[in-house]
Amino acid sequence: MDPGESQRSATELFEAQAHIYNHIFNFINSMALKCADELGIADAIFRHGKPITLPQLVPALNIQPAKTAHLYRLMRVLVHSGFFEAVVEDQEEAYALTPSSKLLVKADANCLSAFVKALLQPDFVTPCHVLGDWIKDGGGDERKKEPASSPSSTPFEKAHGMAFWQYNDRNPEFNAIFNEAMACDSQMVNLVIGNCGKVFDGIDSLVDVGGGTGTFARIIAEAFPGIKCKVLELPQVVGHLAGTSGSVEFVPGDMFQHVPSADAVLLKLIMHGWKNEECVKILKKCREAISCKGEGGKVMIIDIVINQKKDEHELTETKLLFDMLMMLVVNGMERSEKEWERLFLEAGFKHYKITPLFGLRSLIEVFP
Ligand SMILES: C[S@@+](CC[C@H](N)C(=O)[O-])C[C@H]1O[C@@H](n2cnc3c(N)ncnc32)[C@H](O)[C@@H]1O
Repeated sequence: MDPGESQRSATELFEAQAHIYNHIFNFINSMALKCADELGIADAIFRHGKPITLPQLVPALNIQPAKTAHLYRLMRVLVHSGFFEAVVEDQEEAYALTPSSKLLVKADANCLSAFVKALLQPDFVTPCHVLGDWIKDGGGDERKKEPASSPSSTPFEKAHGMAFWQYNDRNPEFNAIFNEAMACDSQMVNLVIGNCGKVFDGIDSLVDVGGGTGTFARIIAEAFPGIKCKVLELPQVVGHLAGTSGSVEFVPGDMFQHVPSADAVLLKLIMHGWKNEECVKILKKCREAISCKGEGGKVMIIDIVINQKKDEHELTETKLLFDMLMMLVVNGMERSEKEWERLFLEAGFKHYKITPLFGLRSLIEVFP
């Protein structure tokens, strides 16, 4: 091997080492984000009204001065990952908000703090530790000493001894944190709903299936007062809201049993949580629900469409990580257009139209 070649292969090996180490430590990026959210760093900068220096940030966060150097190191990583920007203010280094950290400010209508809090709970992270075992042995819940012939259906079930929705039912505190996360994810739809008027043309009634605590249904009811909106949800989520509450009617129930009839059915972040057979069952129930409107009814799905050829690298990575999350937690999956199409045809729908929304999600209109 000539010296140039051995130099090149050493360079390649060290790059590979750095790549591996980067992925080992990537979880620290997630935890630094969680920490920033818990400390309320974005709120402190927002309250300050302009970029904040480190000596100003310490008391603003109620942190002991002894932790100043540690906070500096946390901020350095958060600047590197794009959550804050290091700027010069009055000849001193100061931290400013970026578009990402603006979404962590509690006073912001689109605040995603609840999403950060929920998705980085140990309840979600623990199943990641058993992913390898779950894939390898297909064994049952270790703590119940189940034989390998009764495999847990998800790493979540393997780690926690029960399926995700049952776990939510048994842990009201976790369920509330999760529902809040979903509500803040839905709140952002507000930003695009104004441009979606045509999508709701001719629709007088709509049922949001698995619509959580009704954030999205309320946004639609307010934007289009002519549309009568219902939310079908599990009793554990809307039992206390059953009946009409403001502009939205809440119906506790199970979408696998019955979907109330309406001109349109909305499924936001529902289908990605279920296997193909289950999705077809849900879609058939939705088709029954819109049959009252004849050919004029439709199902509206808001979910991810994987499109590796067209999407930018980071967008695809986020979609693929969502796909992993669905495998870890609920045995669902993110789908490509082909995979979506197969579901629609199997459930008896004739055609569909995909409109990419901003960011990760697309609107898929499915017609009978
Ligand atoms: C990922 S969340 C999405 C919530 C909401 N659509 C949103 O985007 O904010 C899935 C929702 O489906 C509900 N769900 C799960 N199983 C259900 C069932 N069998 N019938 C009705 N809703 C169900 C859950 O309670 C949860 O609120």
